[in-house]
Amino acid sequence: MSEKVYPVPQDWKTRAHADAAKYNADYTRSIDDPDGFWGDVGKRLDWIEPFTKVRNASFAPGNVSIKWYEDGALNVSANCVDRHLEKRGDQTAILWEGDDPKDSKAITYRELHKHVCRFANALKERGVEKGDRVTIYLPMIPEAAYAMLACARIGAVHSIVFGGFSPDSLAGRIEDCASTCVITADEGLRGGRKIPLKANTDAAIDKVGGVKTVFVVTRTGADVPMKEGRDVRYEDAVKNAAAECEPEAMNAEDPLFILYTSGSTGKPKGVLHTTGGYLVYASYTHELIFDYHEGDVYWCTADVGWVTGHSYIVYGPLANGAITLMFEGVPNYPSSSRFWEVVDKHGVNIFYTAPTAIRALMGGGEEAVKKTSRASLRLLGSVGEPINPEAWEWYYRVVGNGRCPIVDTWWQTETGGILITPLPGATDLKPGSATTPFFGVEPELVDAEGKVLGGAAEGNLVIAQSWPGQMRTIFGDHKRFEETYFSAYPNKYFTGDGCRRDADGYYWITGRVDDVINVSGHRMGTAEVESSLVAHEKVAEAAVVGYPHDIKGQGIYAYVTLNAGVEGTDELRKELVAWVRKDIGPIASPDLIQFAPGLPKTRSGKIMRRILRKIAEDEFGALGDTSTLADPGVVDDLIDHRQNRK
Ligand code: PRX
Repeated sequence: MSEKVYPVPQDWKTRAHADAAKYNADYTRSIDDPDGFWGDVGKRLDWIEPFTKVRNASFAPGNVSIKWYEDGALNVSANCVDRHLEKRGDQTAILWEGDDPKDSKAITYRELHKHVCRFANALKERGVEKGDRVTIYLPMIPEAAYAMLACARIGAVHSIVFGGFSPDSLAGRIEDCASTCVITADEGLRGGRKIPLKANTDAAIDKVGGVKTVFVVTRTGADVPMKEGRDVRYEDAVKNAAAECEPEAMNAEDPLFILYTSGSTGKPKGVLHTTGGYLVYASYTHELIFDYHEGDVYWCTADVGWVTGHSYIVYGPLANGAITLMFEGVPNYPSSSRFWEVVDKHGVNIFYTAPTAIRALMGGGEEAVKKTSRASLRLLGSVGEPINPEAWEWYYRVVGNGRCPIVDTWWQTETGGILITPLPGATDLKPGSATTPFFGVEPELVDAEGKVLGGAAEGNLVIAQSWPGQMRTIFGDHKRFEETYFSAYPNKYFTGDGCRRDADGYYWITGRVDDVINVSGHRMGTAEVESSLVAHEKVAEAAVVGYPHDIKGQGIYAYVTLNAGVEGTDELRKELVAWVRKDIGPIASPDLIQFAPGLPKTRSGKIMRRILRKIAEDEFGALGDTSTLADPGVVDDLIDHRQNRK
């Protein structure tokens, strides 16, 4: 842990939306008078029917119910597009940078309006109605934003599936929310490589019923089969559609989107976000935390397949009338200067990325950064996993030339927006700490029994009160929602993260305390990888844990027990990695596979994951009590054959 402190630079104290005094006063008010505070903030949006109620939330066991602005009506696409037309119709809304550095374009708010209306009309034409679910499986092209906003315009609920997921993962997500429409592209393009999105979509739809329409956006122009009656070329569909589409009046609590994320058990869950509170929270956090001012060029490098792309590429920035940069490619293509070349090309002022990207670029050396100017940069951000102080310092010193504060933003798919973060004009920074709570957020640390810990302490991170961006339920499974988030510590939202609070009240996230691992900032349930491995005909049993990985933060370590008579060869290792990649997607590929004749189990047959974690971390000197194991001998074998020797 670094003890270094970086005070707020003098110029930031005056230029920023909030200085320390304002943060303290507003934070106090947001906790003492949440209705008054969020009632005022809620007015930042355009409401078709103004709200009179602000907050109505209960975390009570068996009765969890979360509502914000519940009698208000609004439309998200009208807030993200239409209301900017008068003042900034000709200003760029989306600045798109393609995979190939020669490919880029700017879409103004007026153009965005036409694209969104046309697409909305095309969806209606194909029978998509308010409340219907639409699955989006697209690369990072402007049409992804048009598709999201077109759904929001007509009240359809989108479910975006990251383009790196396999046909099986896509099928599971289409089926779970009973999507009737899928929006995809012929192929995706990342780092010069093509991704067969349409072929994957076809394979997914072969496994599930119910999809009536597939819109296919032309990205590479590849020749893809089109199924008569089901598949529609996006370009044809929008060409003849009207350029006006009246936005649907949505209740604040009507669903806006579903986004699947991994938990510690079972299949991914459909996190449901609603309309009013989500947009209030996404836009307010975007403006305050990134200190967005009119005309700034803002770039978040995430993919819209993850929540960061939803809240901080599309909804938050566009609701604020921002210029938001959308990048199709990867950090090291064509070279590891790409990020910084894009910064110079478009004059990016605010840059938001993940620690895994920073660590990977650190490996490429300073020269690749230093040959670019980056003079336009003013603020840097980090998200997705704890940022180690070395990476923080490098980001600060090399990328930001020691001029740009870093906002280390802690949040989750479930939280809808950032909860713990510095405000750049208000918060002194400590490398590696997400610092202090945003307005209205009441973090607490609890011990295993649920006792709230005061002062400097370490424990499990819970949030004591609702905030507007909070998820409302798991789609189709409210019981699982209550059990997952509200049963461990009654009347509190349990984040699944461990955390330390120092004597200054700064929060330091220490990582997940459940069976979720964070690989390159992507969440993966160990149970998902295990069930994929055991589906292989040669595998009898599998246990998956995380281990420290220099670039990815955590890597995937799989212990695999093979069926009797099967030999554990390197060939088979490769086969199993390929199997999981095909089954779930490349992000789930095991980094290390150890063939284990036996796994450490208690006498009642429960796998002792704690021991497996320690061995994977190469810390087997501290295995703790192994006396409850049915066969303590298996541990020696596991240690002898460990794959992660330092
Ligand atoms: O463990 C925390 C980690 O990422 C988890 C949430 O993952 P996901 O829902 O995929 O959302 C990622 C983007 C918001 C958290 O439970 N995490 C996220 N941001 C940070 C973090 N850990 C430490 N510091 C962060 N800034």
